[in-house]
Amino acid sequence: MPPRLHLDLPGVQAGLRAAGPGAGDPLLLLDLDAIAGRVAALRAAFPPGTAIAAAVKALPVGAALRAAHAAGAGLELGTATEWALAERLGVPGPARVVDGADLGPDALERALAAGARVTLDRLDLLPAAAARRAAGLRTGGISLRLHPGTGQGGALDTGAPGAWFGVAADDPALGAALRRFPGLVDGLAVHAGSNPASLAPVAAAAAALHAAREGLRAAGLGPFPVVDFGGGMPLLAGAAAPGPADWVGALRTAAPCVDEPGVQIIVEPGRWLFGPVGALVATVVAVRAAAAAGARPTVRTTAGADLLPAAAMTGGRSAHRPALLRPDLGAAPGPAAPTDLVGALCWAGDRLARAVPLPAAAPGDRVVFFDAGAYTVGMGLRLGQRPRPAIWARRGGAWACVLPAESAADLAAAWDPRGAWEMTD
Ligand SMILES: Cc1ncc(COP(=O)(O)O)c(C=O)c1O
Repeated sequence: MPPRLHLDLPGVQAGLRAAGPGAGDPLLLLDLDAIAGRVAALRAAFPPGTAIAAAVKALPVGAALRAAHAAGAGLELGTATEWALAERLGVPGPARVVDGADLGPDALERALAAGARVTLDRLDLLPAAAARRAAGLRTGGISLRLHPGTGQGGALDTGAPGAWFGVAADDPALGAALRRFPGLVDGLAVHAGSNPASLAPVAAAAAALHAAREGLRAAGLGPFPVVDFGGGMPLLAGAAAPGPADWVGALRTAAPCVDEPGVQIIVEPGRWLFGPVGALVATVVAVRAAAAAGARPTVRTTAGADLLPAAAMTGGRSAHRPALLRPDLGAAPGPAAPTDLVGALCWAGDRLARAVPLPAAAPGDRVVFFDAGAYTVGMGLRLGQRPRPAIWARRGGAWACVLPAESAADLAAAWDPRGAWEMTD
């Protein structure tokens, strides 16, 4: 049987039956076998020796990260909490790639001491890195993140001109800064941004990296044997959606260094790796009929922008292909009509889907949001302090709760730990 790569509707129904009515609402379902399948698909497509560092920000759930690591992936880490999670998971230092805009000297030292690869995104961190290296710290290598200056500038478009993620490839200070610390930086990195409409921005960022690497080498710098292409692989629907082989093909065409002997490739997939393995299931709370002929019905669900922030940020242009189940978990029958889905946060931006085809919904029905593994529980808003839902996961055909829901009482206590009016330090 080919490995599973998605959590589909039958899988969701099986998960809901296994979890039972008391599991919580909303509920996130994950397929850990599909995570393993997706890591295997990446490993099969990329040149041997490619390091796959799963972007923890996409899905910071221990069970999911363990599944990715067991299948051969390392971790890409951007914050102190993500680092602490990697420690808990026991992922070895050399299997970690540490970067992020808030990487400061302390995080740098911690990462270098553990033998992790560090990606610097500012030149002013070079002296600190050189000092730690001179002090004899164990280190897995140091990359410099270049800003590709490609893309359109949407909220997820970190590679676009004007965004501050990395050093501009044409920064006049770049060559001199690298020359001051010979041999310190052995890698170049780039990241195009997340969820583009095609592979084009990913390829453009790779081309920018390749051109910069060639230019620096021609100037006697380098040789930069480590090349990190970041993440950004789009998650598109339909048969023509790009897969790992398309990703490698696009990188190869844009950056011939992919096949250069002795080059170590790193990729940092987040959305593509974790998105399709998850589904968020919510309940219909209320339905407002279309206000006039040609208008659409609006369905309020127990999901919200706290769990589907990217859908809300794009005004409800949902990529989550919502499906409707009756309370008995059977697929809702009936003709589909364009429908809007909203959440219950007191915020006009809480729009989860606009004009998606759904049968007529009634309170108590369930709405399934597919491709919800990445950037949902890992990216949520805290408006209203709604507890994070429970997470159930399938492994080897069996479902189990891998993370109970946060409790409202615990969250309240976290905001008022003393339970009394005190202003002491
Ligand atoms: C440095 C870096 N690498 C990898 C990723 C993962 O990107 P994606 O989820 O689009 O694959 C991100 C996400 O923003 C990132 O900032």
